[in-house]
Amino acid sequence: MNSKEIKIKQEILDLQSKINEWDNAYYNLDNPIVEDAVYDNEILRLKKLEEQYAYLFTYEELKNSPTQKINAFASETFTKIRHNEPMLSLNKAYTYEEIEKFIAKIDKIAVNYSFYIEPKIDGLSISIKYKNGKLWQAVTRGDGLIGEDVTENVKQIECIPKEINYLNDLEVRGEIYLSISDFNNLNRMLELENKPKMANPRNGAAGTLRQLNPEIVKERKLSAFLYYIVNPELHNIKTMTESFEFLSKLEFPISKETKTVYTIEEIFEYINNFKTIKTSLDYETDGIVIKLNELKYYNELGYTVKFPHSAIAFKYEPDTVSTTLKNIFATIGRTGLVTYNAELEPVTLSGSRISFATLNNYQYIYDLNLNTNDLVYIKKAGEIIPCVISLVNKKEELNVFNKIITCPYCKESLIDSETFLEQYCINPNCPEIIRKRLIHFASKEAMELDTLGEKNIDFFIEKGFIKNIDDFFRLKERSAELTNLEGFGYKSIMNILISIEKSKELSLERIIFAFSIKHIGAKVSKFIASKVVSLDQFIDFDFEQLTSYDEIGPKIVSSLKEWCNNEHNRSLVTRILDLGVNLVYKSNAKSNILENLTFVITGELSQPRSFYEKMILENGGKITSSVSQKTNYLLCGEKAGSKLEKAQKLNIKIINENEFYDLCK
Ligand code: IVH
Repeated sequence: MNSKEIKIKQEILDLQSKINEWDNAYYNLDNPIVEDAVYDNEILRLKKLEEQYAYLFTYEELKNSPTQKINAFASETFTKIRHNEPMLSLNKAYTYEEIEKFIAKIDKIAVNYSFYIEPKIDGLSISIKYKNGKLWQAVTRGDGLIGEDVTENVKQIECIPKEINYLNDLEVRGEIYLSISDFNNLNRMLELENKPKMANPRNGAAGTLRQLNPEIVKERKLSAFLYYIVNPELHNIKTMTESFEFLSKLEFPISKETKTVYTIEEIFEYINNFKTIKTSLDYETDGIVIKLNELKYYNELGYTVKFPHSAIAFKYEPDTVSTTLKNIFATIGRTGLVTYNAELEPVTLSGSRISFATLNNYQYIYDLNLNTNDLVYIKKAGEIIPCVISLVNKKEELNVFNKIITCPYCKESLIDSETFLEQYCINPNCPEIIRKRLIHFASKEAMELDTLGEKNIDFFIEKGFIKNIDDFFRLKERSAELTNLEGFGYKSIMNILISIEKSKELSLERIIFAFSIKHIGAKVSKFIASKVVSLDQFIDFDFEQLTSYDEIGPKIVSSLKEWCNNEHNRSLVTRILDLGVNLVYKSNAKSNILENLTFVITGELSQPRSFYEKMILENGGKITSSVSQKTNYLLCGEKAGSKLEKAQKLNIKIINENEFYDLCK
């Protein structure tokens, strides 16, 4: 074995032992320590590595890998029962295309068909047999072929009928679950008794159903939904809709959220609506199940060993996953603000690989009691930067991470903000603040300096061409030196110089934003620019007069005053003006027809959202992201969700595209 192979073998062995630990926690302790998505990721990675590097292992070594075990758990304390009909699983879809594929297969065989949609209950499946109208036997799913006899425990579940008004043999299947409210009650009780708490309702249900004492099961209050009748033709049932009517008549508990639908559009609508509904239910769901309604096609459509082709589970993208916090470190932003960051064991979240997440400020770390090696949940915040949202469990008994008191770059002491929520490095010569400011100054949203991204700016700093913002405007004096630089051709240097010349023609707000003044973002800069008009009036402008406007709060005014009173900044602006650079405000408003009107945009429209946003801004209107009393119009396209509901509730005027164009005329 070469050194790379030794490393890979060790990685595989480590993965195996980590997953074995997770399996043990899940199957034997009913106390999972990782999210399903993390588990799936890691087991997939292990499978791939084992396939690729099988030659590094003996047969025995591979046979014992967790990838070779299927649903390992089987308790020794309940009688094993073989199912008459296997209890299959469901194939999963994560996208609309996958649902379309599922339907395309059905379409090849079936005519005049419909679908039955139900929530996918996050519990444990159960098969219950009735004889002579009496509950006779209840068996868990087990490995799908052999399960465990938990009849006595299932008899303790209040909502499951012990007797039914139907004397033929009947086998029904469904899901046993612990409602969220009963789960909370159970954890309160466990806490009082000083016993370990349940990680989630599903594990609460599993742990309860496997109690050997039925009295405990009774106390803990499990619930159930039934959704399937084995051999329905024996009961003259032809569709899923009829199955549910049959179950309901016999007083079995069934979900209230089911629906018979006829088109793919209706399926998508259900998916969209259920996204909101599921958050208000007292039980946890794991997506929805779409079943072909007409049972006569089931056999022809067939089954794989694992799942039928007649039903599919749609899973909503998980917006949180758990992973290990490998390291905590602080970075300094362009205003000197300290941000704490997490380096993570890489994990996939909503389709992208994530290795870093933000932890915001120190208070955030303190409140979540975080330190390195902890298992944490991460979530995509505002779709872009992932954020650590909670602690799953502490790996080591380390105390909370210590607050950083000096700047990691210039080693000067950090200063707390008045609220103690933020920390700042206030060293005007901090190399990191200077670097971040230069990068921001050149960025697309600020001065749009072509090809001057982080890498090139670092290079120019290193070579001594740029120390401060005004140096950008002096670069043209050094063009001969620049063109001799290795790595830059004549043309690329010319492009940089041209873009610097062009930036002088930008509207004033760009340079105000580019200065990196605390609390002054792009939007506020634009407003300030409209009042200040030109750069030469900026430094001595009376910002107090802006307090009467809605857009400008006291925090902004005091930040502007502080910046303009600072000698470094005054001299910087003077130097820029001396170089002949004096940006002026250029209003791009085409009209003020939408002045004082606030819009929210939702749903699918014929043009990208930015198209409407631009039009609103150009006509003097405002845009906000959420509907409130202050919203004047909701511009609403197809498949709108919660924003539409909220606008209806608040009686906000809802307009379509055409009505919007009319407004702008
Ligand atoms: S139908 C052929 N309907 O999901 C499989 N299953 O991932 C028949 N589940 O093992 C199952 N809610 O435990 C069906 N409304 C529902 C369900 C549901 C939850 C569970 C069930 C199954 C698993 C498959």
